[in-house]
Amino acid sequence: MHPAGLFITFEGIDGAGKSTHIAALAEAFRDAGRHLTLTREPGGTPLAEKLRELVLNDAMDPLCEALLMFAARRDHLQQVIEPALARGDVVLCDRFTDATFAYQGGGRGFDLTVLRQLEQWVQALPDAAGLRQPDLTVWFDLPPEVAAQRLAGARVPDRFEAQPAAFFERVAAGYAQRFGEAPARFVRVPSNQSKEAVWQAVRTAFEQRGWLRAAETRA
Ligand code: TMP
Repeated sequence: MHPAGLFITFEGIDGAGKSTHIAALAEAFRDAGRHLTLTREPGGTPLAEKLRELVLNDAMDPLCEALLMFAARRDHLQQVIEPALARGDVVLCDRFTDATFAYQGGGRGFDLTVLRQLEQWVQALPDAAGLRQPDLTVWFDLPPEVAAQRLAGARVPDRFEAQPAAFFERVAAGYAQRFGEAPARFVRVPSNQSKEAVWQAVRTAFEQRGWLRAAETRA
């Protein structure tokens, strides 16, 4: 018998500081003896990584952008996420469908009913068993103006990072809306505080669910 798989996703506007905490959680799960799949969206398979290159760098209209995000997601689910969950892995995925609702829905103002339809098609489980959704989504909630300061001059921006402040205000509102629609699936981590305090909040959420035991691991 292997343990049940766990599907954990990480969300937040660019600059919210997800990466450090994903790495720290990976270490904590490894210490706990769990097998891990560390992955990201858009991306995670050879095809989806090619789509990532296109969608982050090439000009396109919002429908094209949304379709490519979901096309990459379909391949990622089939090739990586579902097999890993079936093996009993802990899947730590840097962004998933909430990002599409926040960036394409909130940021670009794209029709949410179309996104909901795509979500139904792409995440449908076999035998009408419902939709694949994360067991938990860690939302690093950072005021957009703080994120912008953190990102300034950090690297050459992609098509999303290059957007103006108003875009990130809408993305943040998009995340807040998704959170409001399914609060039980989320842990909201206020991220305008020290890295250590953010890590404590993340770690506590996993301990409270019985997925990690209290330990010394710190970011
Ligand atoms: P990353 O820099 O965190 O890897 O994310 C890549 C960018 O892609 C980020 O700016 C958010 C954006 N994105 C979307 O616009 N829609 C999506 O569905 C996903 C997964 C990411």
